[in-house]
Amino acid sequence: LKSNTIQSIREKYLLQSPITVSTAHDYITSSWAHAANCDMILVGDSLAMTTLGYESTTDISFEEFKYHVRSVCRASGPSMVIVDMPFGTFESSIQTGIANAIDIMKLSNKVASVKVEVGPHTRDRYTLRFINELCSRGIPVIGHCGLTPQRVHSLGGFKVQGNKNIEDIKVLCETAAKLEEAGCWALLLECIPHKVASYITASRSVPTIGIGAGPSCSGQVLVISDMLGMREGSMPRFVKQYGNMRAHANESLSEYVKDVQEKRFPDKELHTFKIKEDLWKSFLE
Ligand code: KIV
Ligand code: NA
Repeated sequence: LKSNTIQSIREKYLLQSPITVSTAHDYITSSWAHAANCDMILVGDSLAMTTLGYESTTDISFEEFKYHVRSVCRASGPSMVIVDMPFGTFESSIQTGIANAIDIMKLSNKVASVKVEVGPHTRDRYTLRFINELCSRGIPVIGHCGLTPQRVHSLGGFKVQGNKNIEDIKVLCETAAKLEEAGCWALLLECIPHKVASYITASRSVPTIGIGAGPSCSGQVLVISDMLGMREGSMPRFVKQYGNMRAHANESLSEYVKDVQEKRFPDKELHTFKIKEDLWKSFLE
């Protein structure tokens, strides 16, 4: 299978064929997403919380994050890889941000785009300007708006966005428009009312990838550890669980522990290596 490109994703979008995205955080999860023929793999900074146990996506260092990107990129297959710009990699200055975006793109020739979280345009002119600078330098950008976990503090928690008043909805739609104007080739809409997502999708000319944004988006993304049931804890409402890998792992590991304790594993016939009888005899002599 040929690997997807921004162009092949765009063609899919123009045909109104739903775009499929899964996150991945390492070589194994990446190889699963490729095997399932996901259109894109997102190395999202949510891996800080979902697979590394941090309290917030703002806690992971750039070095740690890049280690995961490299791991994801070692797997091969049809899915195009897109990568988050983590918290702290672009806020201090445009120059630093550009250098770090280039750094991400250079981690592997599989990385096709970065993704940048942006706040409401009325309050976050800086990030829009930054995204503009990236796009004008030929670095492909997905603009992420709505619920942006890196700004969880200024948003007052993990809450639905663009659902409070007319002004809220208006600002969100305008932010999406400004992201397209800035040159984003796709938009990521997180945790917004489905009608608002539908409106944005209809009014923009680039694909929208939704998470908690309803069925009218051009595509969907879910966090792999959420959809496969890999971790403990509560799930956001927008997650559909397609597996319960944690229960499966718990059962299997408990069985292993019991097997060793009760001397059922290893089995002398199945899991061990033999030596020629005469060799053994001469060793003992
Ligand atoms: O980090 C991530 O996984 C994301 C998705 C939730 C869109 O940004
Ligand atoms: Na993210």
